[in-house]
Amino acid sequence: MKNLENIESEATKDISAAQNMADLESSRVKHLGRKSKLSLFLRGLKKLAKDEKKTMGQLANDIRNRLELEIKKREIELKEKEISEKIDKERIDITRPGEKVEIGHLHPLTRVFRETKEIFGSLGFYIVDGPELETEYYNFDALNIPASHPSRELMDTFWLRQPSAISHQPSAKLLLRTHTSPMQIRFMEKHTPPFRIIVPGRVFRHEATDAGHEIQFHQLEGLMVSTDTSFTNLKGILEYFFKKFFSATGGKDIDVRFVPSYFPFTEPSVEVLIKWGDKRFEVAGAGMVHQNVFRAVGYTPWQWQGFAFGMGIDRLAMIKYRINDIRLFYGGDLRFLKQF
Ligand code: PHE
Repeated sequence: MKNLENIESEATKDISAAQNMADLESSRVKHLGRKSKLSLFLRGLKKLAKDEKKTMGQLANDIRNRLELEIKKREIELKEKEISEKIDKERIDITRPGEKVEIGHLHPLTRVFRETKEIFGSLGFYIVDGPELETEYYNFDALNIPASHPSRELMDTFWLRQPSAISHQPSAKLLLRTHTSPMQIRFMEKHTPPFRIIVPGRVFRHEATDAGHEIQFHQLEGLMVSTDTSFTNLKGILEYFFKKFFSATGGKDIDVRFVPSYFPFTEPSVEVLIKWGDKRFEVAGAGMVHQNVFRAVGYTPWQWQGFAFGMGIDRLAMIKYRINDIRLFYGGDLRFLKQF
C-alpha cells in the first residue's frame, strides 16, 4: 500500500512538472506504460490471495484512473500555454507605421520611345525590330554605300573580330550597326509596298565621348513606300510628329525646317531642324529613298517611291527634358533617373 502511494505521488509530481507535450508523453510512458511500476504491480497481483487481490487491484486501478485524469488536465494546460505563446510570438503591431514602397521610374529614353511609337502608331506605322549585330552588306553596301565611299568614314564603326573565312567574304563582315537604316533593307527584302514602318533601336559608333556623343545611342528609323508617296508626305508627317511630341512643352511654337543635305541612300536628302525659341536643334536625317536601294532589294526601279528618315532619340529626350549631357542616359545614376 505504501508502495502504491509512492508510485502515485512520484507520478503526479512528474506529470505536473511536464513543460511540454513531449515531456508529458514520456512521463505517461514512464508511469502508465507497459513497463511502469504500476503495470508491473498490476501484473504481480495474480500471485496474491483472492481478497487481497481484489482490494489491491481496486486501489491500483483507482490510481491509474487518477493519473490518467492528471495527464488529461496537464495536457489541456500545456495546449493553452502553447497557443498563448504562439499568439504572443505572432502578434502584429497594427500601430506600426507602414514601410514606404519604392516606385520605379521609367528611363527617359523608354518614355521617349513609348511616345514616338504611340504617335507613329496613330498614323498607321507598324513597329519593326532589327538586329544590333549587322553585316557590312546591310549596314552599308545595300544602302548604296560602296566600300570606297567616303561616307563610310563618317560613321566610325565597331567591327567584330571573326574567323578569316568570314571576314574575307566581301560584305559578310560583322559589325555593330551604326544606324537603324539596315532594317530598311531587311524589311523590303521580305515585303512589297505599300507599307509604312518605324524601327526603334540602339546603334553604335566608335567615337570619342563627350556631352553630345556616346558610343551607343538610339534612333528611330521610318520608312514609307507606295506608288506615290511624296516629299510632301514626308514633310507633313515629320512636322505633325514633332509638334505632337513637343506639345506638352509648347509644341505649337516649334518651327520644323528642312535643309538640303546628303545621304547615299536618299535622294534628295534633307536634315530636319527644329527651331524653338531662338535655339535650333538637328533632330533627324531624311529623304526620298534612292532607287539604288530599291534595286538592292529586288524592286523594279521607278515602280515605287517613298521616304525614309532617321531620328536621334537621345537628342529628342535631351531637348524635351532639358538634359545637357547624353552620357547621363547610360550612367545608371539613380539621382538622375529618379527625376523621371
Ligand atoms: N541613317 C542616317 C544616320 O544615321 C539617318 C537617315 C535615315 C537619313 C534615313 C536619311 C534616311 O545619320
